[in-house]
Amino acid sequence: MKRFSFYIVPALILLVLIVFLVITVRAQANAGPLPQTDETIIRGARLYDNWYALLETQPRAGDMPLWTTQTTNTRSGAETWRCVTCHGWDYQGKDGAFGSGSNYTGFPGVYQTQVSDLSGAITGRLDPQHDFSPYLSGEDVDALVAFIKNGTIDDNQFIDLVSRKVLNGDLANGKAKYENTCVKCHGEDGAAMVFRMEGQNVTLGTLAVTDPWRFLHRTRFGTAAAPDMPIGRSLGWSAQDGRDVLYYAQTFPSGLPSGKETPSLGGREATPVVQPGGPAQGFWGGLLTAFGAMATSLGFALLLGVVLVGLIFLLVWIARGKK
Ligand code: HEC
Ligand code: HEC
Repeated sequence: MKRFSFYIVPALILLVLIVFLVITVRAQANAGPLPQTDETIIRGARLYDNWYALLETQPRAGDMPLWTTQTTNTRSGAETWRCVTCHGWDYQGKDGAFGSGSNYTGFPGVYQTQVSDLSGAITGRLDPQHDFSPYLSGEDVDALVAFIKNGTIDDNQFIDLVSRKVLNGDLANGKAKYENTCVKCHGEDGAAMVFRMEGQNVTLGTLAVTDPWRFLHRTRFGTAAAPDMPIGRSLGWSAQDGRDVLYYAQTFPSGLPSGKETPSLGGREATPVVQPGGPAQGFWGGLLTAFGAMATSLGFALLLGVVLVGLIFLLVWIARGKK
């Protein structure tokens, strides 16, 4: 009996210790330091923009099933599977910028939706025709939900819906931020690079005046086609900072650029580059970030573990001494 308790006591203590360790590590991980939530929201935003470009996959051939329930929008194919195509760059669907014009579908927005089971909405539990679960992992769905709940911003009180100009923007703040972070790639006048929009090549200036919401979404959260672009949300920009940069970009010469095309960027839909890790740039950066996060959450638990293991040794030593 004495021999038995000699083994069972440390064994029990060890068990308690392991359980304790696991709980501590999990609690630390779930405590969700802000940067981690930011990363989730950014990932959700990029999935919302174009999940199949980000995940380097393709939806099945043909239109998204719900697409056939409307007739006003003539787009077809893969594009009809993007969240943004139906719910809008302002997240307000038919109640926002997609309330008229070629983007109109009549579909609702997701901004401040009354639906409580958002992951159920995305995975077809509420409507089997709205099922993205064959394509999105549980984590992807969580990221989309985090984005819809905590990342979407209503800019429509700050943008004139007719002229599409930013109201009450701060031009000096926008200029300073643009010149610090954007000018090296997009150029002084925003025309150093062209994008495809509605089948045309446009500059940042054109985009700013024709689709300020797409400009804002991609400035805040980036886009799959631009893995090296700084992300407003990671830079700690406020909603107003984003609008100020947009306001400044609206002063650029717009219209079609002449001979300034960057061929390597023209076909961006065909060569999406995946950058799933949010702010971390590149493989090694991502690895370092991951190790950093692990180190901080593990640090405390390890310390605790060392102390407890010491305690066990002490107990065993006492038990042996008693024999
Ligand atoms: C083809 C159009 C279409 C696409 C693409 C689409 N949705 Fe929807 N979505 C709808 C429609 C229509 C509804 C209204 C409910 C229904 O009919 O299922 C809806 C409802 C929702 C709702 C519930 C909001 C509410 O108030 O009803 C959420 C959340 C949502 N969609 C998120 C997404 C996300 C995230 C994606 C991308 C992964 C996406 N949707 C892609 C058409 C679309
Ligand atoms: C490291 C270079 C780089 C920097 C710096 C950069 N961008 Fe970009 N940006 C890109 C690339 C590359 C693209 C994708 C081009 C394409 O779609 O073909 C892009 C795309 C965009 C788009 C999306 C265009 C579209 O098609 O909808 C916006 C908006 C944008 N940038 C705004 C900004 C703003 C604002 C800044 C400053 C905060 C900035 N960018 C800084 C490289 C950069």
